[in-house]
Order: sequence, then structure tokens, then C-alpha cells
Amino acid sequence: MNTQNVQKPGQIILAPSLLAANFAKLGEQLAAIRRGGAAYLHLDVMDGLFVPNISFGTPVVKSLRGCSDLFFDVHLMIDRPERYISDYVSAGAELITFHYEATEDPRGVLEQIRAAGVKASVSVKPNTPVEVLYDLLPLCDMVLIMTVEPGFGGQKFRPEQLEKVRKLVKQREAQGLSFLIQADGGIGESNARACVEAGVDVLVAGSSVLGKDDPCAASAALLAAAEGRN
Ligand code: DX5
Ligand code: ZN
Repeated sequence: MNTQNVQKPGQIILAPSLLAANFAKLGEQLAAIRRGGAAYLHLDVMDGLFVPNISFGTPVVKSLRGCSDLFFDVHLMIDRPERYISDYVSAGAELITFHYEATEDPRGVLEQIRAAGVKASVSVKPNTPVEVLYDLLPLCDMVLIMTVEPGFGGQKFRPEQLEKVRKLVKQREAQGLSFLIQADGGIGESNARACVEAGVDVLVAGSSVLGKDDPCAASAALLAAAEGRN
């Protein structure tokens, strides 16, 4: 597996979600999270069909690409993602996550993303069992476990979803793989450590980082909590 630009399991990676940012000050906010220790920028793309909300598309990704060296982690919450993979790669995505529930051919989408030369990742919604992904894991650089129903920031964390993370850790070992495990939704200082203890490598955080007045301090505080330093 090509692991360039994807850190190995064992290092906690913070991926602040752009959804919670002040869009009038994006350049400044991205610099702040970088200073605070974030390595990824999580970009939530919503189409109003797969989820009942619309966010932003390729022009935003492309504009930000020019002003940040964060690793661009694009989370596609769109129906039939196979239609848009090449657009997001051209815009600057370095990793693309799509939803298992959004396509009839998840294996084909993973292969399409890999063939486009970026990291490939698949996600399941809270009511989808993680076992549906087991056959696909050899094609994954990352797997995203949703800890809220996708569609909106600011929702309450669902701790029972961490059971899926524990199962993935076991599968990774059993299949001899090295994909990262990401969790997304409702993550903050109160539950970041529990995520890491379950096996999460990449923490997405919207409200608790870019939703705060000082995203630099919020990034550092969340990483400290995740690492058990507070
Ligand atoms: C939800 C998105 C999340 C969201 C997280 O559909 O996928 O990435 O921005 O926001 P918080 O951290 O506020 O739950
Ligand atoms: Zn997301």
C-alpha cells in the first residue's frame, strides 16, 4: 500500500472540520489550526440529497489549496460519488472519503480514487454495521466511522459507535493491514481520549476547534486531551 503522506497508526492526527469555520476569515483560521498542531483539514462536502444539508464544492477546495499546506481530507456526503472523484482530485484533495451507503459499487469507487492517485477511504453511517466494510479494507488507506448522523456539525457524540472502531482495529490486525481509523462527529476534549483508547488515529473536530474563538488554542487543547496530557 502506498502510505506517502498518511501517517502510520500510533500518531494522533487532528483534522479540524472546515464546516465550523468563519468563512470570511478562512486563510487566517487555517494558519491558526496549523500552529495549534493540526495536520489535516477535513472538508465536508454535502449535496442536499445524501444528507439534508448543502455545504460547499470544488471552488472552495481549490481556493484553499493555494493558501495551505495542511493535508486535504475531503469527506464526500453526496449521492453517487463516482460522478465527482476526478473533480475533487483536480481541486486538490489528497484523500477522499465517500459513503458506503451512497453508491451501488463501493469497491469500484475505492479503485477509482486509488487510480486517480490519492488516498482512498470509505465511511459508514451510525446505523450501518461496520462488517459490510471488511472485504473492502485491503483497498482502504483510511476508514471513517461516523459518531453522529452525517449532515450537520454540532451534534452529540454517540459513544456506542466506538465499538465499530474496536472491531476495525481487530480486522486491521487480522488482515495485516495499515489503514488509519478516523472518527467524525461531536468530538471534543471530553471524549477525545476515549476515541484514541478505542483505536482512533484521526480525530475530526468541527465545533470544538474552528467553532471556537481561538482555533489555535483549541487545536492544542484537543490534542493534549487526546494524548492524555491534561
Ligand atoms: C457531519 C460532518 C462533520 C462535522 C463535525 O456531517 O461530517 O465533519 O463537521 O462537526 P462537529 O465536530 O461539530 O460534530
Ligand atoms: Zn465530516
